[in-house]
Amino acid sequence: MEIEELIRTIVSDDHIHARFLNTLSLQENIGARKISANELPETSTYMVLKHAAEEHRHAFYLKKQIGKLGAERCPTYEPDYLLAPYSSKYYLNKLDMSCSRYLMEHLNLKGAKLKFAAYLLVTYAIEVRADLIYPVYQEILSSMGSKVSVRSIILEEQGHLEEMTAQLRVFSADWELHAQQMITIETHLYKNWINDLGRAICKEQQLS
Ligand SMILES: [Fe+2]
Ligand SMILES: [Fe+2]
Repeated sequence: MEIEELIRTIVSDDHIHARFLNTLSLQENIGARKISANELPETSTYMVLKHAAEEHRHAFYLKKQIGKLGAERCPTYEPDYLLAPYSSKYYLNKLDMSCSRYLMEHLNLKGAKLKFAAYLLVTYAIEVRADLIYPVYQEILSSMGSKVSVRSIILEEQGHLEEMTAQLRVFSADWELHAQQMITIETHLYKNWINDLGRAICKEQQLS
């Protein structure tokens, strides 16, 4: 299923939509924790604190949107309240692992330097993806007359991509080459995630 078709199917069913919002909330929460976990005294700038605060807000905001649907609440991130729970977490974890492996093999990085470089590149790839998905999602929400809105997230995600690009420029003169490698890895993982989401939704529809 293509992303547009997938999101349209999700939005047309409040119960599936609720769990999709909760799944996105989980991924925002993982992203927020990743930023906080990589804070160091020498890197905790205004920009980094703003980014962490906004990702935490996205997790909260998406969870809050569930209340606008005629569906049961998703109180926690336990598997029953998510769509394709394993795959949705695996996408981010695998991206982290693949990025660290790439940096060890190609830049010979270790320890804190490796951790920080992985954070920069993984977050960059996620921001590129967020800038693609959220506008498509919003367009479908508007066209289907949904009460849910992700408009306030879109603007902040655009700012994050600029922030990550600025930090990557400081990190390496070859940042574009490394970023491109990350995008290739992320695209593969993203396709797997979308396929798993599609399968989970088909199963739900067969059960209902
Ligand atoms: Fe976000
Ligand atoms: Fe972001």
